[in-house]
Amino acid sequence: MLATGAAGRETLQCPYHAWTYGLDGALKAAPRSEREPGFDCEGISLRAASVGVWGPFLFANPDPEAPLLTDVLSGMPQLVADAGVDVHELRFHGRSDSTVDANWKLVAENFLECYHCAVAHPGFSALVDVSPDAYQLVPGEAFSSQFGPVREHGSGLDTEGEVKRSQFHFLWPNTMINIFPGRTNLSIGPVLPAGPERTERFLDYFFGPEADEAWVDELLRFDEQVGAEDKVLVENVQRGVATGLIDRGRLLPESERLIADFQQRIRATLA
Ligand SMILES: [Fe+2]
Repeated sequence: MLATGAAGRETLQCPYHAWTYGLDGALKAAPRSEREPGFDCEGISLRAASVGVWGPFLFANPDPEAPLLTDVLSGMPQLVADAGVDVHELRFHGRSDSTVDANWKLVAENFLECYHCAVAHPGFSALVDVSPDAYQLVPGEAFSSQFGPVREHGSGLDTEGEVKRSQFHFLWPNTMINIFPGRTNLSIGPVLPAGPERTERFLDYFFGPEADEAWVDELLRFDEQVGAEDKVLVENVQRGVATGLIDRGRLLPESERLIADFQQRIRATLA
C-alpha cells in the first residue's frame, strides 16, 4: 500500500523502496535508478483509477473507464438537497466501525426494508412512521431510497431542525446513506464482504454547523441502538441460512420490493 491516512502532499512516496510519484501517478524518481543503464522513469506510473467528488465525499473506482460519479449518483444529490442537507456545509464528525457475522448480502437486505421496523426497532418506530402507507420504498436505476416521515407525536430524538423526514439510500452495490430528521446530518459508508459469513462496515458521520454536540450525541445513541438491534437480527438470519435446510425464502412483493430489486441485480451481475 502506497499511503494511508489523511494529509496534503505534493508527491506520493512508496514506503517500500522510496519511489516517488507525482499526484498524476507518474514516477518522478527512483533511488539508485541512475546507476541502472536503460532505466527510465518515463512511462512508469501508478495504475489509473476513477475518482469523483460530491461535497466532502470522494468516491474511487478501480476501473479507469468507470462512468462519471455525477451519472452514478444521478438524482441522489437532489434528493439529499431536498431533504434540507447542503453537503457542502457538512463537517466530518467521526467514523463508526463495526462487523457483522453474516454475509454482506444479508446486511444489505436488512437495510432495504422496514417491514421489520415496527417489531424489531421500537425506538426508531416511535419516531418514524413505519406504516406501509407512510413509509415509502422507491427502487431506482443506480440507487434505491426509503423515505420515512416523523410521527406526529414522535419521540426518541429531538427533530427540531432543517431536516423534516428521514431518508435512507442504498447506492448499488453496497453503499448506504442515512439522513435522520432534525439538525443537518448525514452518515455514509459501505458494507464490505470479509468472507462468506462476515461483513465489515463503517459509517462516517457528518453534521451541519447548527448541530450542537448534545444533539449529535443524541443522534449517535439513537442510531447505535438501531444498529445493535439489526446486528442481532442479521446474525440470526445467517445462522438460519447456514444450516442449509432452507432452500428459499418468501418475500412480500410490496413491503420487500427493494430486496427483490437487490436480488435481481445480484443475479444479473453474477450471470
Ligand atoms: Fe433494521
